Amino acid sequence: MKRSDPNSDIGSSHVCPWWLAYSFDNPIRRWIHRPLKLLAPFVTKGMHAIDVGCGMGVFSIAMAELVGDSGRVTALDLQDKMLEITRKRANWAGIGHRIQTVQGTADQLEGDGSIDFALAFWMVHEVPDRFGFFNRICSALKPDGILLVAEPNMHVSRKEFDRTIALASEAGLQPYAQQPTVRLSLSKVLVKRNR
Ligand SMILES: C[S@@+](CC[C@H](N)C(=O)[O-])C[C@H]1O[C@@H](n2cnc3c(N)ncnc32)[C@H](O)[C@@H]1O
Repeated sequence: MKRSDPNSDIGSSHVCPWWLAYSFDNPIRRWIHRPLKLLAPFVTKGMHAIDVGCGMGVFSIAMAELVGDSGRVTALDLQDKMLEITRKRANWAGIGHRIQTVQGTADQLEGDGSIDFALAFWMVHEVPDRFGFFNRICSALKPDGILLVAEPNMHVSRKEFDRTIALASEAGLQPYAQQPTVRLSLSKVLVKRNR
């Protein structure tokens, strides 16, 4: 799908360094975001779920608990150090076998429409080409597959977030009926609809 306005897609290319992730990936953050409770309405047993920009894996691990042994989780991140910590944490939790870590960007995803659920938590503002990103996610999702986007409201303005969602919509992702409140965030649940 082509982008109608290439100038509307100017994101930041600043990427959160792995050591800074400890400042927000800690027990307080897990209490604030309650990953299992947040994801449970969208992720169920047997699904293939993906955590894009997984960081240290706080949501990947919750997803792996929800998909069970019949499902699988892909944890994707640019930084190998983040993935190393995700693997370690998943192994401690006894669910490492359900998580495949992949280093890279959304370009590494197969565009085969095999994914049930995708998460992009506090990462889209770090992606330089957001339209390309959403286009890639859209190809990777099954029809009626779901993407949850959450952006930190201390870094991302409402206007910027609305522009991000407009790009997602241009790529083929439409607002979903169920919209949870995500603390400290601007968020939207989107669904891939055939057009
Ligand atoms: C602020 S952290 C958030 C991590 C995690 N989602 C969380 O909520 O704890 C953003 C993460 O996105 C990753 N990232 C940034 N741009 C990316 C891209 N284009 N593709 C994959 N990962 C990316 C960074 O390496 C970093 O680990």
